[in-house]
Amino acid sequence: MSFSCTRSSNFGCHFVLPFKSLSRLEVSVIFALLFGALMAMGAAAPLARAQKVEFSVDSSKAGAKIDRNIFGQFAEHLGHGIYDGIWVGPDSTIPNTRGIRNDVVDALKAIRIPNVRWPGGCFADEYHWRNGIGNPRAVTLNPNWGGVMEPNSFGTHEFMDFLDQIGAEAYLSVNVGSGTPREASEWLEYLTTAQPTTLARERAANGHPAPYKVAFLGIGNESWDCGGNMTPDFYLSQLKIYSRFVRNFNPAQQDNQQMLKIAVGPGGGEPRWTEWTEAIMKAYQHHSWSWDINGLSMHSYTVVRWPPSFKSVGFGEDEYREILKSTLDMEGLISKHSAIMDKYDPQKKVAIVVDEWGAWYAPLPGSNPGFLVQQNSMRDAVLAALNLNIFARHADRVRMANIAQMINVLQAVIITEKERMVLTPTYYVFKMYVPFQDATFVPVVFDAGTYTHGDVTLPRVDAIAAKDVTGKLWLAITNLDPNQFVEAAVSLSGITPKSAAGETLTAPRVDSVNTFDAPRTIVPKPIAAKVQGGKLALKLEPKSVTVILVEQ
Ligand code: AHR
Repeated sequence: MSFSCTRSSNFGCHFVLPFKSLSRLEVSVIFALLFGALMAMGAAAPLARAQKVEFSVDSSKAGAKIDRNIFGQFAEHLGHGIYDGIWVGPDSTIPNTRGIRNDVVDALKAIRIPNVRWPGGCFADEYHWRNGIGNPRAVTLNPNWGGVMEPNSFGTHEFMDFLDQIGAEAYLSVNVGSGTPREASEWLEYLTTAQPTTLARERAANGHPAPYKVAFLGIGNESWDCGGNMTPDFYLSQLKIYSRFVRNFNPAQQDNQQMLKIAVGPGGGEPRWTEWTEAIMKAYQHHSWSWDINGLSMHSYTVVRWPPSFKSVGFGEDEYREILKSTLDMEGLISKHSAIMDKYDPQKKVAIVVDEWGAWYAPLPGSNPGFLVQQNSMRDAVLAALNLNIFARHADRVRMANIAQMINVLQAVIITEKERMVLTPTYYVFKMYVPFQDATFVPVVFDAGTYTHGDVTLPRVDAIAAKDVTGKLWLAITNLDPNQFVEAAVSLSGITPKSAAGETLTAPRVDSVNTFDAPRTIVPKPIAAKVQGGKLALKLEPKSVTVILVEQ
């Protein structure tokens, strides 16, 4: 059979069978049959059929508080994460306040960042805080990240000023790998004492007479790897010493707001990491008065293979489903380490702090590979929502998390280039999830169904619900399927809904991105549910993240 188009034909085109030409009626019948067959084969999937999913939420059932600190950020001296991303210097033509970019500060304020982890990462274990105070500053090197020169113009005071401008708490990492307990304890005294010690007078001379508040303190970073390749026992001996001597003297932090100390924890689910968690938690169970921890860090990147080779732009559904499949491993990882922690700390006094998470892709072509530059697509928005949902479901143990990294590095919420700034799809997920900060978890029951592509099957949807600090009910639903709508039917008990509306984030393609020239390709759009008989009906776009407020 052949298909040809001629100018003389009535239809313009006609089928030609080897034995005869077909009439108009015969052609119509063949078209109808072919269309029916294609529908039956599922070839019409790209036309986006809707799949029904039922959810039920009992708002009278309260779970743990979703600590606002799970929406924390991580900013390391790495590539353009600090320099150009935050710090442009007071003499820059880019609008700034005391050297800190105004556009970035405004954007970060809008997503209510609770805390920022600084100065690293691997950088922290080579950072000497004295290089970053006073004038002139020592110029050093950054051997971990491209071997570039480190001007130290962004140091302690600039970081604290930045936090003050965005309204976030400090999460400092002290140098265990190449520093000393004395160096760390003096940094804390410099930062926090209210008494006129020599260090406090130096702080005042550098512009800040009042003590700073340090909410969180990380004792080392990846001490099993870039932080010094330590065994669990060796690290434990360091941890006990540092924990003893890094004192916070701020009078306002002696009772209610004590600084929380976070030990280095696992970097995966393999035996090496379970042994690490076992060792730290076993020691914690019998810890003496002279040392203590409040958190155990966990690092888990979505990378699939090492070195990172997945592209952050110009990919298709194969790479979309691989990355999402891998990111969902966060659930198993947290469950595994929580179970170990439960053995030694059943009261869950020690939090899991997932202080490095996010997607780690191949560096963008043409960028310095040491700068970890990647784009951020709709896939990353879905990935962010899935991880935040996992953290929320484990809110009793996961009380802090920091996406890596805030600006221009890895899964950034902001990308800058000279005076330009673009907000990424991940940024908008953080913005939409603001109501979940310190909200009370409310369980959602649903049969997620499945989304299959090739040999990979994933849940079609994911959802969490919570009551915010004012008692209002919020629901977040992610549709993982990049091709099909979801018709969500939400039954509610404990609440009589009057209306439900919010925002939804989707994009034309799984690899759609926001760029400096097209910064609004992916932005949240309003969405409203129909309310019928106490139920909500909501149509969710393929590959979308939706957050709605239920009004009663
Ligand atoms: O975020 C980049 C690096 O990843 C950090 O410096 C390190 O802690 C981790 O290995």
